[in-house]
Amino acid sequence: MKALYEILEPGAPEWLAAEALDPNRLPVHVAIIMDGNGRWAKKRGLPRVAGHRAGVEPVRGAVETCARLGVQALTLYAFSMENWKRPRAEVETLWRLLRFYLKHELAELNRNNVRFQAIGRIDELPAIIQRDLQETTVATAANTGLRLSLAINYGGRSEIVDAVRVLVEKAHRGEAVEVTEESIGANLYTSNLPDPDLLIRTSGEMRVSNFLLWQIAYAELYVTDTLWPDFNRTELLRAIVEFQRRERRFGGLGSNADASQDEAHSTEAVAVTR
Ligand code: FPP
Repeated sequence: MKALYEILEPGAPEWLAAEALDPNRLPVHVAIIMDGNGRWAKKRGLPRVAGHRAGVEPVRGAVETCARLGVQALTLYAFSMENWKRPRAEVETLWRLLRFYLKHELAELNRNNVRFQAIGRIDELPAIIQRDLQETTVATAANTGLRLSLAINYGGRSEIVDAVRVLVEKAHRGEAVEVTEESIGANLYTSNLPDPDLLIRTSGEMRVSNFLLWQIAYAELYVTDTLWPDFNRTELLRAIVEFQRRERRFGGLGSNADASQDEAHSTEAVAVTR
């Protein structure tokens, strides 16, 4: 697999965006809420499903870009537990597109050294979808590059409930169980992944929509007005550039804070109030 820099055309927008990146400070795990397919279709006077169809190409682009850049994990929100409320024909189109993607992308996933997995309440999905997901997981299991997770029939709260249930069941069986951040984290669907450090949402909504609630505690949020079908490689690279501009503090003071000066001020303040 060629690195991203080797396949871009010098001077093209995606090349310029890639040039602005620091390859040594990439996000480790990028998570994306792919939103706006319906609006994209509506703007063109097309049925909603046309928007979902147009949403497949940016999925391919995001996977390829992350794989070639050397990002360790990419998690895409493909179908939430709430999405079952949509008209049956739309839901069925989504399953068809997912099957199409899995079938046609397998060779490309392997070429790009991508390891695939599905996260969510997978056992509640139609049997044929479960089978396709399982086949893709097995067929890419030996790869060592990007870990691609598709969140399907996924809900962040349900994921935490499921993790706690595993712990409770263990306790019922008499196993020693501690309820800690570590033990809950170790029983999430994403237990084999680092927490996302960048969460992207397309099409402008300022919501996290029940996605990876536990894992995004310290993620940088990036919301763009671009609708998912228009979210191309340049857009993804720009999101990563913006991520690299942020100062991540994890609740501390960060590298720019002058702690000694702050301490001096607080001593002064104490002296005045005494
Ligand atoms: C949100 O747009 C998108 C979805 C609910 C589904 C995401 C599906 C795809 C990107 C298609 C293919 C996926 C794979 C994995 C091959 P929306 O319909 O909520 O848009 P709206 O908010 O504008 O109505």
